[in-house]
Amino acid sequence: MSDGWGGDVVRGSIYDFPKYYDVLFGSDWRAEFHFLRACFERFAALPRGRAVRSVFEPACGTGRLLIRFAKAGYSVGGIDLNEAAVAYCNARLQRHGFPASVRVGDMTRFRSPRQWDAAFNPINSFRHLLGEEAAAGHLRCMADCVRPGGLYVIGLHLIPTQGERIQDEAWSARRGQLVVNSYMWSKGIDPHRRIERLGMTVDVYRPTGRMRIEDEMEYFTYTAEQFRTLLARVPQWEPVATYDFAYDIDTPVRVDERTEDVVFVLRRRGE
Ligand SMILES: C[S@@+](CC[C@H](N)C(=O)[O-])C[C@H]1O[C@@H](n2cnc3c(N)ncnc32)[C@H](O)[C@@H]1O
Repeated sequence: MSDGWGGDVVRGSIYDFPKYYDVLFGSDWRAEFHFLRACFERFAALPRGRAVRSVFEPACGTGRLLIRFAKAGYSVGGIDLNEAAVAYCNARLQRHGFPASVRVGDMTRFRSPRQWDAAFNPINSFRHLLGEEAAAGHLRCMADCVRPGGLYVIGLHLIPTQGERIQDEAWSARRGQLVVNSYMWSKGIDPHRRIERLGMTVDVYRPTGRMRIEDEMEYFTYTAEQFRTLLARVPQWEPVATYDFAYDIDTPVRVDERTEDVVFVLRRRGE
């Protein structure tokens, strides 16, 4: 299909286009990667003071962070609902000499064949769990697959109950001759279901032509209080620190009614 902008228009999910997803978000790995490593060093309390050596990412997508951890010597694993993203992630791991350690799976309910030292779930993927039951179930599955003393680091946007909230975001990235620009905006929140609908357009410029992906997705919403209530339901996790998307390990933040972007550092309690 083509419209006034002069290129093809596809209505679909950006997650079905892992190459374009990875160009768009893959360049943005450094701050998160270094922050996560700093969290592991500062907050993990594994037996005998052992350092974090293995990491697991639920909803890992293309594995833009997992590949960095693999290259840094960690053993890595992940799951994602999207087959195309999993294939892309495993192909890149294998290309760099690592096992294809990511599989298709639903983070709502899953079992990991092994335990991990730490896990992370950045940039709102947690909000794909559409409801508190799904989120609590997920946190329990994560508690089963992270060792006591290990960490689970979750990054998401809360809905502030005071002050303005950010309603849209734009990203732009280039890899070689491929340029990807995107714009994401809130289409509103259903307060009863606690569902936010988001629109997203992704414009892809290739030497052979251009293409627009028109996406729409739903995110579950949390105020700061609602997130605290959720965490209290799964006592296997002890909240140990909170940060924002500046990812500065020396600058923790206090979560209050105005907080939007937040990173919760949770530690797995012992049995
Ligand atoms: C915003 S992307 C994040 C990908 C990756 N974590 C990153 O930081 O780049 C969200 C991912 O969540 C996945 N996803 C959504 N719902 C899921 C579910 N229930 N179980 C597993 N993955 C899911 C999507 O397929 C998509 O790859």
